[in-house]
Amino acid sequence: MITAVVYSESGGTYKTTMTANLAVALQRMGLRTLVIDLDPQEGNLTSLFDAGASRSDPDADNLVKHVLDMPDGPFEELIETTAEGVDIIPSHDMLGDFTSNLEQKISYETGMQNMSREEYPRFELLYDLLWEREELHKQYDAILIDPNARAEDLLYNAIFALRTLVAPVKPAGKGNLSLDGLGELVGNMETQLDIEVGLACVVPSGVGQTNAHQQYRDQFESTPEFATPVSIGDRESLMDAMWEARGSAFKVVEERWKTFERDGEMVSEPGQRRVRDREIETLRKLYELAYFLATETFDAEVEPVLDIDVRDDERRQFDLSEEQEVTTA
Ligand SMILES: Nc1ncnc2c1ncn2[C@@H]1O[C@H](COP(=O)(O)OP(=O)(O)OP(=O)(O)O)[C@@H](O)[C@H]1O
Ligand SMILES: [Mg+2]
Repeated sequence: MITAVVYSESGGTYKTTMTANLAVALQRMGLRTLVIDLDPQEGNLTSLFDAGASRSDPDADNLVKHVLDMPDGPFEELIETTAEGVDIIPSHDMLGDFTSNLEQKISYETGMQNMSREEYPRFELLYDLLWEREELHKQYDAILIDPNARAEDLLYNAIFALRTLVAPVKPAGKGNLSLDGLGELVGNMETQLDIEVGLACVVPSGVGQTNAHQQYRDQFESTPEFATPVSIGDRESLMDAMWEARGSAFKVVEERWKTFERDGEMVSEPGQRRVRDREIETLRKLYELAYFLATETFDAEVEPVLDIDVRDDERRQFDLSEEQEVTTA
């Protein structure tokens, strides 16, 4: 079972983009993959994948109700399947009130039983739901969570349930600071939750061509403190198009989605994007990252060949076990 929380202390470090691309890469490797969106804000994984039609309906059943053990329906009905085959448990507005709902539950339950508030296992609820009540390990090979780093109760529940972190970092002054914070945070969490938390890898993302950026990347790649299997370049055009294609960077390239101006208006359409080697290279790196997570962190057996079938264009295949491009046809 592959489980990871895509975590970063600071906002806007491409977590959601990374979660989507990693999930689709794992799915393409033959793993049954589920993503859980714990971020109720706009621009979350749910909107990226065009899921969660009832996320603003307070009466609709949602993950919070299940985590708090007050479901309105079967758990399976929360799960949607995206166009690329990855399953998703979408976000819901109720995630924004998670802590106050949790406090109410704790008041009620500690009042009923002879228990102090401190004894209540407030960070173990998602764990119990995923593994003990729903036994998701029987249904999936990989589960990723995109949390909201500022919502501590949800974040701690996510980490308690999944135990492993993947950390995208931006190559800015803040990048290093957030890394110092990361080690500290992992340590704090281990003591607070009394579990072992593993940092699978750090992924420098949005690395531009400037000297400063290249130096940051080199620093990250050469530190022995953690693994840095790949770094992802500054790919704004490719990653931004994901929000129009409603899917991964693989989908953007294969369906050739592009945003452009037509008659004074911005439009996004498939079949328009030019195939660029550097974007193909980025897909290979994303696949390599997923391959690292699956095989190095979790010792799983997966499909090592990445097959990129670009619409009306050439088909490219990369075999990661051979570290080379096998065919271009
Ligand atoms: N490698 C990249 N290079 C340049 N831009 C990128 C890259 N990856 C993602 N982006 C763009 O950066 C923006 C923010 O990305 P994203 O939403 O994934 O960040 P986030 O960490 O989830 O943010 P938040 O903290 O708000 O949840 C998006 O518009 C996305 O298209
Ligand atoms: Mg996000």
